Amino acid sequence: MKSPIVIAIDGTSASGKSTNAKLVALALGFVYVDTGAMYRTLAWHCLQTGVDVQQPRAVAAACRRWKTALTCVDNQVRLLVDGYYPEKEVRSDATSAAVSLVAAVPQVRKWMKQKQRECLKFGNLVMEGRDIGSNVFPETDFKFYLDARLEERARRRAADGVNENLAARDQRDSQRAVAPLMIPLGARVINNSQMTAAETSALILEEIRRRLGSDGAV
Ligand code: DC
Repeated sequence: MKSPIVIAIDGTSASGKSTNAKLVALALGFVYVDTGAMYRTLAWHCLQTGVDVQQPRAVAAACRRWKTALTCVDNQVRLLVDGYYPEKEVRSDATSAAVSLVAAVPQVRKWMKQKQRECLKFGNLVMEGRDIGSNVFPETDFKFYLDARLEERARRRAADGVNENLAARDQRDSQRAVAPLMIPLGARVINNSQMTAAETSALILEEIRRRLGSDGAV
């Protein structure tokens, strides 16, 4: 049996990773994995249970004790908290402020990497994040890195009703010691400042189909 295909989509905040990863997954019939949502779910769980997210040891202990389940519903992977997926809560300002602290804890990253690799049991994947092509699935042949001008990314976030300091978040994500945000070796870099999501995802799909060649019946 052929091993599942993994499409890794990394990039800066608000560079269109989620929109494009979902479009690509839908077009190919692959399972979509939003790894940022996995970190957000843990950050929310920490806030809910009174864990001080400024304390890496407390966060690592909460992660270790966390009883969660990896599920795949409608071709989308989620981490559940006591059987519940906090879809809206993970986008709250409080969770957004806490998440990059949680994501910087080495034990958390190790735990997440294991869960993210476990997603192969669900089949072919489109996985988006910050370290997918560089750290979680460095062996994949399908790596993309999305970016856009800071003003354009801020405009997109504001259009979604979210005001956040993207430059500060990108800096925290790029400067952490473990698995920082970076352009993975061999990644196709796409700056989509002046592109629609339809154009960006078409470019990604074209590249995937070209690389798969005649073998790629997806
Ligand atoms: O993509 P997002 O905004 O939902 O990501 C939330 C946070 O999690 C962001 O600060 C970066 C971090 N993250 C990470 O460190 N590694 C990933 N693979 C995905 C997200």
